[in-house]
Amino acid sequence: ASKSRTAYVCGECGAEYSKWQGQCGECGAWNTLSQVVVESASDAPAAARRGSWAGKIDPPKVTALKDVLHREDVRTSTGIGEFDRVLGGGLVEGAVVLIGGDPGIGKSTLLLQALASMAGRLPALYVTGEESLAQVAGRASRLGLPLDGLSALAETGVERILEQAVQTQPKLLVADSVQTLWTESLTAAPGSVSQVRESAARLVRYAKETGTAIFLVGHVTKEGGIAGPRVLEHMVDAVLYFEGDSGSRFRVLRAFKNRFGAVNELGVFAMSDKGLREVPNPSAIFLSGTGRQPGSCVMVTREGTRPLMVEVQALVDASPLSNPRRVAVGLEQNRLAMLLAVLHRHGGVMVGDQDVFVNVVGGIRVQETAADLPVLLAVLSSLRDRPLSEKTIAFGEIGLSGEIRPVPNGEERLKEAATHGFLRAIVPKANAPKAGSYKGMEVIAVERLADALEAAA
Ligand code: TYD
Ligand code: MG
Repeated sequence: ASKSRTAYVCGECGAEYSKWQGQCGECGAWNTLSQVVVESASDAPAAARRGSWAGKIDPPKVTALKDVLHREDVRTSTGIGEFDRVLGGGLVEGAVVLIGGDPGIGKSTLLLQALASMAGRLPALYVTGEESLAQVAGRASRLGLPLDGLSALAETGVERILEQAVQTQPKLLVADSVQTLWTESLTAAPGSVSQVRESAARLVRYAKETGTAIFLVGHVTKEGGIAGPRVLEHMVDAVLYFEGDSGSRFRVLRAFKNRFGAVNELGVFAMSDKGLREVPNPSAIFLSGTGRQPGSCVMVTREGTRPLMVEVQALVDASPLSNPRRVAVGLEQNRLAMLLAVLHRHGGVMVGDQDVFVNVVGGIRVQETAADLPVLLAVLSSLRDRPLSEKTIAFGEIGLSGEIRPVPNGEERLKEAATHGFLRAIVPKANAPKAGSYKGMEVIAVERLADALEAAA
């Protein structure tokens, strides 16, 4: 008899429970748990264990790590510099990379471009479960991509995909998308958490056994019905998310997890009718370009290894609700609530009866705390309906007692702002040069929130 057991897995974060519960204890999401079958009987290590007990199969061998043969990371360039940057310098042999993002953001386009560029060097197989081969070929010719060495397969059954892979021996495989994959070993519907997990697990095993690099495409979904890429994060080597505003032509690829490189590295692309174009010098593309407006503050963020100028916008408006809204787009929601509390307690500015909306221009996400000061300056500017003085930037973390804390790479950020013609910077004291100016830019060093609010007034 098969020794399968059931477990419950959260579709948001992938946490596993033995019993069903309404709320995930890990990530706090509601109604995201669904049942999965964990087939321990077909599980290879378990089978080996049983076999060795019966004395039939050799026991697993322990090897001294120094005797294990390994090749120094063999990296292949994707032919797209910004993509290589996010991967940590190219694609590693046998690596499994998950690329997540909203439907329509450009995942298939990016991978087709990368594949076409790599196919001459690595035999590649593009497995599509969403589009027909004619659609894929049509897209490739629209993008003007060379097709030599690139094979495609329209298939969703993992067993058949692997059968083909064993025959044709690609060194690079793309599965677009994981949500369409299914394995015969489970009865659950394609797209369910258990199917997506088990199908991906088989591909991962294949990658590790054969040294084939695999890209898995995963659509990010808000509804619990279809398993999101997050349930796969722990089993792959790298997780890259594609971000961007549907209204903007810029797209950002971010490494969220990477066993072979730095996390939070950003690759920036612009959409065009010939596909994604690299933006190797992205610094100022996320500024709105509308000039001085109330509720806007430009900051220099440093996501990954490059400084980036981004604009934080705030709208503060009298609320009709007894519980006014706090909405953060591109920033962390809880942090906004905390910052507004600090603004009240240590800045003496009350927004308790106001709706507060904060947005980062261009659909980009800023995760670092250096955004704290720009957020509050934008909020204050909107509340007072007065723009910040012309050509001003700010950055700095704000502590709970109202202190402005330094951020990493202060000088690099100042340099970037000066290069882009900014005239004034409001920054933490420890990040400010003693002279009070930097390359002709006035630098105002602040230690307390009150100082910063005064400097911005
Ligand atoms: P697609 O790559 O299919 O998105 P995803 O795989 O993430 O769902 O892109 C969506 C549409 O946008 C598709 O019709 C092609 C078009 N597109 C361009 O025309 N130029 C581009 O640079 C990109 C990225 C997409
Ligand atoms: Mg697609």
